[in-house]
Amino acid sequence: MAARRIAFINEKGGTCKTTLAVNVAAYFASKKQKRVLLVDLDTQGHAGKSLGVDPRGLARNVFHALTDPALPLEAVTVPTPTPNLFLVPSWKDMAEFPSAAAGDPQRARRLEHRLASVNDRYDFIFFDAPPSLGLTSTNILVAADEIVVPVATTYLALDGCAEMVDTVNDVKANFGRQALRITLVVPTLYRKTQLADEVVAKLKEYFPRRTAEPFALSVTVDEAQSHGKTIWEYAPWSRGATMLQAIAEAVDRAGRTG
Ligand SMILES: Nc1ncnc2c1ncn2[C@@H]1O[C@H](COP(=O)(O)OP(=O)(O)OP(=O)(O)O)[C@@H](O)[C@H]1O
Ligand SMILES: [Mg+2]
Repeated sequence: MAARRIAFINEKGGTCKTTLAVNVAAYFASKKQKRVLLVDLDTQGHAGKSLGVDPRGLARNVFHALTDPALPLEAVTVPTPTPNLFLVPSWKDMAEFPSAAAGDPQRARRLEHRLASVNDRYDFIFFDAPPSLGLTSTNILVAADEIVVPVATTYLALDGCAEMVDTVNDVKANFGRQALRITLVVPTLYRKTQLADEVVAKLKEYFPRRTAEPFALSVTVDEAQSHGKTIWEYAPWSRGATMLQAIAEAVDRAGRTG
């Protein structure tokens, strides 16, 4: 069976893409015994760091697999402390990806092509996207089937969300990816204020039945990441874990029910 391919993406920075990608991936691996691959594509390498894997210490990462045809994705995949969860790490090299691939007319499909050899080995493949538009994000959207958009509950974040919808529609049209869809929008960094509640209400209006319950601010979630641990390792009984479990279950349902 082919893997479900789910991207956490928003061109805006700091909206909890990495936090959600890492903890949702770890949830499927450790709580549902699924085989999971998390592909980091951000130059910051935060997905690795959040899992206790230091991408600086690795000779090869996603950049090398995307630019060297002799290097399969398996060759840059590493295990993580979470059983069943494997990581394709990323690091600063990824900044060179657009120029390294510039001459290739198929450059937007490189990730999709590289996934062909691992697709049957996993139940889920998650992508942690960088906070910018460009060739890397296009590769992610071309390779993914389901999109989860974490949106900070601030006024300008709504703008970014509308931009994401346009970008997804462009990729659908330009790359023949009609099945690609935003399955879930997650309001993040939520604090109970009038403005935040207005933003959540707007999201529910734009994305009826596809807006998750808000992911509230939680010091424990931040702490877990700073220790390089998933919430399931660091504080499995915390409110942060309860919220992340609800989001992981929503991701699962949203992709299955359409
Ligand atoms: N629920 C939460 N409560 C408090 N802090 C959080 C929460 N979720 C995430 N954070 C913190 O917010 C910061 C940004 O989160 P994260 O790295 O997941 O965002 P991102 O969208 O991946 O950022 P970037 O765009 O830079 O890749 C991190 O320091 C993270 O620990
Ligand atoms: Mg990130």
